Amino acid sequence: MSKTAAKTSSQPKGDDKASLTEPVVAVEAFMTDFLDRRPLPSNLREAIRYSLFGPGKRMRPILVIRSAEAVGGQASTALAPAAAIEMIHCFSLVHDDLPAMDDDDLRRGRPTLHKATNEAMAILAGDAMLGLAFELLFAKLPPALAATIAHELAIGNNDMIAGQVHDTLPDFDVAVPPIERLRTIHKNKTGALIRASCRMGAICAGATPGQLEAITTYADAIGLMFQVVDDLLDVTQTTEHLGKATNKDADKGKLTYPGLLGIEASKGEVTRLQRESHAALDKLGGPAERTRPLRELCDYMAVRSK
Ligand code: IPE
Ligand code: IPE
Ligand code: MG
Ligand code: MG
Ligand code: MG
Repeated sequence: MSKTAAKTSSQPKGDDKASLTEPVVAVEAFMTDFLDRRPLPSNLREAIRYSLFGPGKRMRPILVIRSAEAVGGQASTALAPAAAIEMIHCFSLVHDDLPAMDDDDLRRGRPTLHKATNEAMAILAGDAMLGLAFELLFAKLPPALAATIAHELAIGNNDMIAGQVHDTLPDFDVAVPPIERLRTIHKNKTGALIRASCRMGAICAGATPGQLEAITTYADAIGLMFQVVDDLLDVTQTTEHLGKATNKDADKGKLTYPGLLGIEASKGEVTRLQRESHAALDKLGGPAERTRPLRELCDYMAVRSK
């Protein structure tokens, strides 16, 4: 593993809107500063940096910040939860790739952490990122807000893990129809962190109950949509383009949207969820300029190719 893990991210480029990428620099600087000041064994620090600063899209931190702004807040108030959710997301990726889980060798275009180091370090670096996410919230936010945000993050994390269990070690009653099982898997393994992202951003910005409800409806629609697209990319993209193995889901016997409904119907589901999230933003109200980034993020997530 290289000593200086690349600090680049792979947000949309080219004709994609700057509004998608703009908050990333601040979030990455925030994570760097926090990690640099936190005493850690040097090999653990290096493993965390390798995972955290790999070229990811940073969708969850961007959602935290854009959700804060959508309800009238400032990006700066949402940096701590934005950094925390990316740490939990990276922990989930590191563990998801382990041999006992999806057994993947490639992540974000580079060897997975257990390949770059070893399984013990990947397990422990994942564990550490989970704990650091909560430590960071309490270090950076006023105590009462930290507690509220930590509660949201804990629910998101634990629902994500429930989803990973459903995905990896199916425990459903056989009477539950496959499409319902699939929705449960996706809403949890991927939707839960996206829901937490949007809710934490809105809460940091002092959202009213009505605003929080609308933001949550938006998040639930894009959270499911995000994983339907991930399933589609697994069967329609190349490993080289995606930076992770493709055609893995069928090999592993996973329940997926294209596997269950086919590619065209899955694309139809993406469009339906895209409309649902736009409708939630209509309900959120406020100046159109404030919700525009969340609309653009939704549209980007629907058509992304990686
Ligand atoms: C991958 O998430 C895992 C899923 C929940 C589908 P992303 O597609 O957001 O991965 P990065 O962060 O850009 O690498
Ligand atoms: C991953 O789902 C969900 C989490 C990491 C929680 P996948 O297993 O489909 O994600 P990829 O395709 O490996 O990124
Ligand atoms: Mg998985
Ligand atoms: Mg996986
Ligand atoms: Mg996948």
